[in-house]
Amino acid sequence: MAQPKPSSSSPSSSPPQRKRLRASARVSDALATRFSCRAFLPKAVDKALVQQLLQHASRAPSGGNLQPWHVWALSGEPLKKLVTDVGVAMRDKPGGLGSEYHIYPPNLTDPYEARRRDIGARLYELLGIAREDKMAKLGQLAKNFEFFGAQTALFFAIDKQMQEGQWSDLGMFLQSIMLLAREYGLHTCPQEAWAVWAPLIKKFLNIPDHMTFFCGMALGHADPHAVVNQLESPRAALEDYATFVGF
Ligand SMILES: Cc1cc2nc3c(=O)[nH]c(=O)nc-3n(C[C@H](O)[C@H](O)[C@H](O)COP(=O)(O)O)c2cc1C
Repeated sequence: MAQPKPSSSSPSSSPPQRKRLRASARVSDALATRFSCRAFLPKAVDKALVQQLLQHASRAPSGGNLQPWHVWALSGEPLKKLVTDVGVAMRDKPGGLGSEYHIYPPNLTDPYEARRRDIGARLYELLGIAREDKMAKLGQLAKNFEFFGAQTALFFAIDKQMQEGQWSDLGMFLQSIMLLAREYGLHTCPQEAWAVWAPLIKKFLNIPDHMTFFCGMALGHADPHAVVNQLESPRAALEDYATFVGF
């Protein structure tokens, strides 16, 4: 397993000024090699590594330095128990118990809706699942609730008083975790699918009522042989989302 790199400063303190001003060349590698991993090896991640990763990720910026993120890390027996509990609950309520926020806008329009459909179609085509095969699609969806085999799970929540700006801060915290995971040779899958189990998860983890449960994240060692991990997600062209003025 990749070990955390030695660091001259503690993970949650910023490095000395001379280091802060140097170019950091390899964030692009982490960005390029991060993907939503949907098959993991049954190999645990050390608690010390998860702790270091989360401490490093807290260098993420946040408006007013509010640091509005809260994270629960789960492994071992408690993780197995949660997965079992959700599996049992799914027999009665296959669609979950209801999320605390709209996972997607109620009337999602193009180009966003088209992109959502496109990535779904690519996933099912890669897996050889026919468009009309609802059972096979549900089977693939259900793998979310086993963290795709990952042995470490993260759950994220944010205080209900927080607004859009702080949700964006939370997103930056998540992305920092996902990029740092690459530094340690690990992979991740952010999972809003868990949002539909908010009441069960909040009870299980004792997440207080004044917090909104956002999502889960699988963390672990990617299965290099799994076909599903070959999925490549396209991106819109630069001119579709960026406007340049005054260059
Ligand atoms: C907040 C968030 C929630 C997501 N939820 C899920 C999920 O529940 N299940 C899943 O398989 N992928 C989930 N994804 C992964 C997206 O489908 C993925 O990021 C997108 O298709 C781009 O692919 P890539 O991450 O491989 O680049 C989520 C991504 C984000 C950022």
